[in-house]
Amino acid sequence: MPHTPLSHRRRRRVLRPVPLAVVGALVATATVALPHLVPDASAATTLRGYADGRGVRIGAAVGDSPLTSDSSYTTVLDREFNSVTAENAMKWDAVEPSRGSFNWAAADRLVAHAAAHNQGVRGHTLVWYAQLPSWLKNGNFSASELNTILKSHIDTEVGRYKGKVYAWDVVNEAFNEDGSMRSSLWQDKLGTGYIANALTWAHAADPNARLYINDYNIEADNAKSDALYALARQLLAQGVPLHGIGFQAHFEVGKLPASMKANLQRFSDLGLEVSVTELDVRIPLPASAAELAQQSTDFKTASENCLGVPRCAGITLWGVTDKYSWVPGTFSGYGAALPYNESYAAKPAYTGLSNGLNPNA
Ligand code: G3I
Repeated sequence: MPHTPLSHRRRRRVLRPVPLAVVGALVATATVALPHLVPDASAATTLRGYADGRGVRIGAAVGDSPLTSDSSYTTVLDREFNSVTAENAMKWDAVEPSRGSFNWAAADRLVAHAAAHNQGVRGHTLVWYAQLPSWLKNGNFSASELNTILKSHIDTEVGRYKGKVYAWDVVNEAFNEDGSMRSSLWQDKLGTGYIANALTWAHAADPNARLYINDYNIEADNAKSDALYALARQLLAQGVPLHGIGFQAHFEVGKLPASMKANLQRFSDLGLEVSVTELDVRIPLPASAAELAQQSTDFKTASENCLGVPRCAGITLWGVTDKYSWVPGTFSGYGAALPYNESYAAKPAYTGLSNGLNPNA
């Protein structure tokens, strides 16, 4: 999709008729190739079909390993999602494991895959406290050296994917739960000014990319989202190129915050895009039928909470299938957090999400 405002894209979509022969071919291809995965798999009723119809993104975080080794995975990915995010491949430790020695292989693979399947790419992530290479973490650099290193990282990575990444999570997880700034290599050595600098450098490297601050536990109206709101207002007042806020949305079943939609709305009211960037809904294992039903409701509500806000650009899930989800490795005893199970059967959550995306459901 072009990097035009959503309203423009919507308008163009309405004006450009799709030849019936093409529609027929798309429907036929999807139905023939995938009848066993989703009973009604016509192009129009996939997640991406509904999202395309609304001019928004439905995305998934993609691991390099399943991308290169599991054809069931890519079948679902390409049928259902019009956007991809590298789960790890664009992080600093992955792209520059030793100073000045780059490894773009996995990131390039994802970008090429996306281009081949008409998917946009969300870039994740440029400035984070975690997954830093040890040469950087342990380098004991001065503030001035660190500033130069950060600028060079942003120039190099954003420059490499200029025109191929429609949005970047420029700054990830910069806040503590109480709204104070999280201690990190960046915060401790450079102060909060690193955020404005990172956004400014990223904008210079790709003026068309939408630039985000991304965080977790900011879906509710709380101390952390209040602090981010204050920072976002300040950055906008200073003319810093901040375009969007990414709400990661790592939820536990049945615990979506009641204030989520109003909270996204207040950021949208600042003129910012809002996106759900890492949605999953973990369940204590084994998941009961009631919990799977509640999870379905949660996926529907989470997507509606974003899409009901004027500047919602889309929703990205942190994975496709429970088979590769990060959840069990981090939250002991929890899992089953995504709309597809480990055998690629669509769970009730798939229907919930689909209904959340389908304006006529
Ligand atoms: O790259 C090494 C590899 O060389 C080694 O063989 C292997 C052995 O364990 O580990 C590999 O690194 C792992 C990496 O994923 C790539 O697979 C790390 O140990 C592991 O910690 C890392 O986990 C990722 C995590 O971020 C790191 O913080 C998860 O896959 C990824 O889903 C998760 O994603 C984060 C978002 O970036 C930010 N928001 C929260 C989200 C979930 O934690």
